[in-house]
Amino acid sequence: LTVYTSVNSASIPSERKRFPDAIIIGVKKCGTRALLEFLKLNSRIKAPGPEVHFFDKHYDLGYDWYREQMPVTNATDITIEKSPAYFIGKSVPERVYKMNPKMKLIVVVRNPVTRAISDYTQAATRKKRSLFTSKFEELVSCFNESHPSCQAGVNASWGAVRIGIYHRYLHRWLEYFPLHQMQFVDGERLITEPASQIRPVEKFLGLSPVVKKRDFIFDSVKKFPCIKKFNGTVHCLGKSKGRPHPKVSPATMRKLSDFYRTENEKFFNMINRRFNWL
Ligand code: A3P
Repeated sequence: LTVYTSVNSASIPSERKRFPDAIIIGVKKCGTRALLEFLKLNSRIKAPGPEVHFFDKHYDLGYDWYREQMPVTNATDITIEKSPAYFIGKSVPERVYKMNPKMKLIVVVRNPVTRAISDYTQAATRKKRSLFTSKFEELVSCFNESHPSCQAGVNASWGAVRIGIYHRYLHRWLEYFPLHQMQFVDGERLITEPASQIRPVEKFLGLSPVVKKRDFIFDSVKKFPCIKKFNGTVHCLGKSKGRPHPKVSPATMRKLSDFYRTENEKFFNMINRRFNWL
């Protein structure tokens, strides 16, 4: 006989739910879900399942609502949440600062060229459009070469391109938070060597690192690292993560890489760190 007990979240005393100690603020399509799932391998890290979107969409619902979205934790646990749209939200840095000027901020960034293709792929999939490469190439290119948003032949006002200009958004965060309160993760290396990318984040959160290389296995079907559970089963992220991308012509790839070169430099100078994105 199996007895199932259900927990009604409304009956959980709110003092057992705590405001987050840290937030994964973005960047969209850079591996935010993988980062969160991999961090949760450390049993002291707890997070709500869905994205909370408090500081961008639901701010009017107030702090009590926000805390209610958090998981039940022990006093020694670390609560984190991830809402990738926070990174680009104009009012978000100030709102986070007002709530907790000591909030730890985690940012995962990847090569903005790949990020743009990933963003386009997601949007096209959601709209149930077929993934025409030509459509991506059309959207990347300028309609009018003399328009101010046209830079090096790239339409820098298209969202998929704009979000990859990381320094523009980071600049706003640095008006409120010192750099040492932010931890940057290379989204490219999160795919190739996840454990080495998780370790510094555990330390940043004040935890002894427990996540190890042996916790991951590269899944040859998914073509991404998946979590190897202690009982031998393998847990990969859902099918909306690690989608196949449309093939983009070498000329467009080159154009985008050239466009981002100076933007990436500005970002690297801002964070005093460089990533080896080819
Ligand atoms: P694609 O689906 O375009 O490949 P986010 O979670 O921020 O939306 O990022 C999604 C991206 O995370 C995926 O984009 C994928 O490239 C990347 N990613 C990183 N590690 C992954 C993993 N272990 N499994 C699946 N996707 C992963």
